[in-house]
Amino acid sequence: MTPVRTAIRAGKKDWNIDTADLQNRKHKTKNIKPLTMRVTTIIAFTILLFGCNQQQDTKQLQLRIDSLEKKVNDAYKPGLGEFMADIQLHHAKLYFAGKHAHWKLADFEIKEIMEALDDIKTYATDRPESKLVPVMLGPAIDSLNDAIVKQDTTQFGKRFIILTNTCNNCHKAVHYEFNQVKIPTTPPYSNQEF
Ligand code: HEC
Repeated sequence: MTPVRTAIRAGKKDWNIDTADLQNRKHKTKNIKPLTMRVTTIIAFTILLFGCNQQQDTKQLQLRIDSLEKKVNDAYKPGLGEFMADIQLHHAKLYFAGKHAHWKLADFEIKEIMEALDDIKTYATDRPESKLVPVMLGPAIDSLNDAIVKQDTTQFGKRFIILTNTCNNCHKAVHYEFNQVKIPTTPPYSNQEF
């Protein structure tokens, strides 16, 4: 081969190498662009997805709150009259327990009345009279409870009358005087020992 041809060849070869190199670089630059674009797309998609997910989560949460709210509103709540009927029963049981100096039972029954008073405060909030119940009954209940703790039958009898009068005073004050409570003459149940 002549040196010129060799040179040409070499040049061609160089040129060839250059072309390959160029193509290689071109290839690389071609690859860089889509990569950045891909990353950007992924980030954008993640943000979008995250945003969508968050929106979805908030929507789901709101639905759950709405359904729970409905359940709470529809849940059965005893009214003031039902608590009164409950108090009436314990009022009668309490009387016979105290009369027969059955102090453990008397203590139990007066606590039942106290619990009902607490429940009225919590559940019967729709009635304006509810706030009056513990205010009016509190002192009478406390002094009757004192007689139970002291196991004093005489005091118990007197204070039970005061409690009963207080019930009626409130009924009068709130125009329910036709619900007149009195000292019971017979035990409310025949199947319980008082
Ligand atoms: C706010 C003052 C207040 C006090 C204190 C009070 N009541 Fe009442 N009571 C009411 C009201 C108001 C009603 C009517 C409730 C209704 O609308 O159902 C009532 C109703 C009743 C009823 C009728 C319930 C029925 O369904 O037949 C009874 C029995 C009763 N009370 C017993 C008592 C007894 C016993 C006490 C005392 C230990 C007492 N109450 C203390 C306000 C009071």
